[in-house]
Amino acid sequence: MSSPSPSVPAGSSAAGADPEPGGSDPKPGGSDAEGTRRHLLSVGELGAEGIEEVLRVSDAFAEVGRRAIPKVPALRGRTVVTLFAEQSTRTRLSFETAAKRLSADVMTFSIDSSSVKKGESLRDTVETVAAMGVDAFVVRHPAAGAAAAVARWVDASVVNAGDGWHEHPTQALLDCYTVREALAARHGRPLTEAGVECFAGLRVGVVGDVRHSRVARSLVLALGALGSEVTLVAPGSLLPPSTEGWPVARVCYELDAVLPELDVCYLLRLQTERGTGAFLPSVREYSARYGLSARRAARLPETALVMHPGPMNRGVEIADDVAELPRTVVLRQVSNGVAVRMAVLFMLLGSPGSVAGFPPSSGPTGA
Ligand code: CP
Repeated sequence: MSSPSPSVPAGSSAAGADPEPGGSDPKPGGSDAEGTRRHLLSVGELGAEGIEEVLRVSDAFAEVGRRAIPKVPALRGRTVVTLFAEQSTRTRLSFETAAKRLSADVMTFSIDSSSVKKGESLRDTVETVAAMGVDAFVVRHPAAGAAAAVARWVDASVVNAGDGWHEHPTQALLDCYTVREALAARHGRPLTEAGVECFAGLRVGVVGDVRHSRVARSLVLALGALGSEVTLVAPGSLLPPSTEGWPVARVCYELDAVLPELDVCYLLRLQTERGTGAFLPSVREYSARYGLSARRAARLPETALVMHPGPMNRGVEIADDVAELPRTVVLRQVSNGVAVRMAVLFMLLGSPGSVAGFPPSSGPTGA
């Protein structure tokens, strides 16, 4: 990203093996020869310093979002394409909102209504769209490594908006932003004065379908970089074949035992579209052992947060009444996603060094 921190390391460091056939190593990493970050393919590329920087820039864009006219000219003249080969509500709309609030032109590309259906390859498709003049591709695809492949094919910046089981870096960033926001509010601290110290030793349980979850992979990488103590909680069949390279403190098979020790209970969606059903005796049994019911939520410390990336399977991972609790910050995650994605797009496409000149008080006007 074009940021005031040239020390952000290049390269991609996905945890664990690529789980899908045909998926490729998601290198080439995110930076060009000058060390300017061009892509965001894995949250692991950022390290603690890079994550903190994104959160701080997001603070400025959150302030823009609270204005009567939540729009700045920072990316005027730039074109952002959302290229989605999988369903999405939150990620797609929030990237499109973010790009529009930055005054970028937005092209929406849906594989299902494209010439891919007539047999055009993904590479030809991407190169065709790029030939129209594109500055950034936001890519969601069911194959791990797809965003990295696009990054090799085009000169534009690429943001991974979810590739198979591999990664969903902006989800992890918005999750971190939401935790930091909640903890700063609890301690009566202005968010703009909060760093990332709040993550050190934070006890986070990541519960459910870890095996198929790109959200889990990115979140664990981010929290690991920030020094949190992560516990994976899942039946053995929904854990990755190996957790080698996952920066987790422990793995537990029982949710009830872990709940009283958590500061954050992060529930994952059962990924039925990725075949999760074959790994479970039944969804009902899963819900009985791992679903966060009101009775279970009462076992959490009073201050613990409940999070979910969405879409929620109510009655499976999370009970209806738990989804409505004040401690459940699912809609804050969605709201914060816009500011975080504004920050990511701006840091990739904005003028080098201009972030440093954007104190939240004046806002990132870019004008
Ligand atoms: N959390 C998430 O990625 O949601 P969508 O699939 O709706 O984008």
